[in-house]
Amino acid sequence: MASSKAVKITWLGHATVLVETAKGTTVLIDPFIEHNPKYPKGFELPEKIDYVLLTHGHGDHIGDTAPVAKKTGATVVAMVELAEFIAKQGVEKTIGMNLGGTVQLGDVAATMVEAKHSAGAQDSAGTHYVGVAAGFVLTPSEGPALYHAGDTTVFGDMRLIGELYQPEIAMLPIGGHYTMGPREAAVAVQLLGSRTVLPIHWGTWPVLAGTPKELAGYVAPGVDVVEWEPGDVY
Ligand code: NI
Ligand code: MN
Repeated sequence: MASSKAVKITWLGHATVLVETAKGTTVLIDPFIEHNPKYPKGFELPEKIDYVLLTHGHGDHIGDTAPVAKKTGATVVAMVELAEFIAKQGVEKTIGMNLGGTVQLGDVAATMVEAKHSAGAQDSAGTHYVGVAAGFVLTPSEGPALYHAGDTTVFGDMRLIGELYQPEIAMLPIGGHYTMGPREAAVAVQLLGSRTVLPIHWGTWPVLAGTPKELAGYVAPGVDVVEWEPGDVY
């Protein structure tokens, strides 16, 4: 679609997104691979993944973190409690942070921002407190600022995210049921001031029924809602 752009964004289905900067920093957000019904068949992750970013503790966002981090040596970046939970799975390099903080990851500044969603991590021992849900704004040294909202509803302080970081490109959940749907996402776009929306967290299962087409019907003229499929590159 746009390999000449400074930043390459590949959607791997659900909320899983691979970001590669012009300077070669590779960031994987919310790896959900093995049990992701929309993971593009046969897609091979790059051998070099520098960072894995986690928005919250739900299985459809952290499911494949440990295997990916162990295989690639990636550093996992997450809310402090979630980073500790992941470290206990044998991941050697983690960075625990919290809302409002920024860490420099190669040529990308990653800022953890608010989200409105639950965030417990579940395993055979039950549900664990792993901090609150978050989103990330990625500001590369070259190219536009990107926002990955994680799982969230729309909230008024998205306006602050817009004011502070001016994310040109917004990756927003639009499926509904567990997150906002297209109607709410259209208001999110307005609050953020983003020009391009990359819809995520839709179509994975029938219950995530919101579609990019529906969102396109709600947004203001001039906002580009990208109708992409898993495996597509923006
Ligand atoms: Ni969730
Ligand atoms: Mn989710």
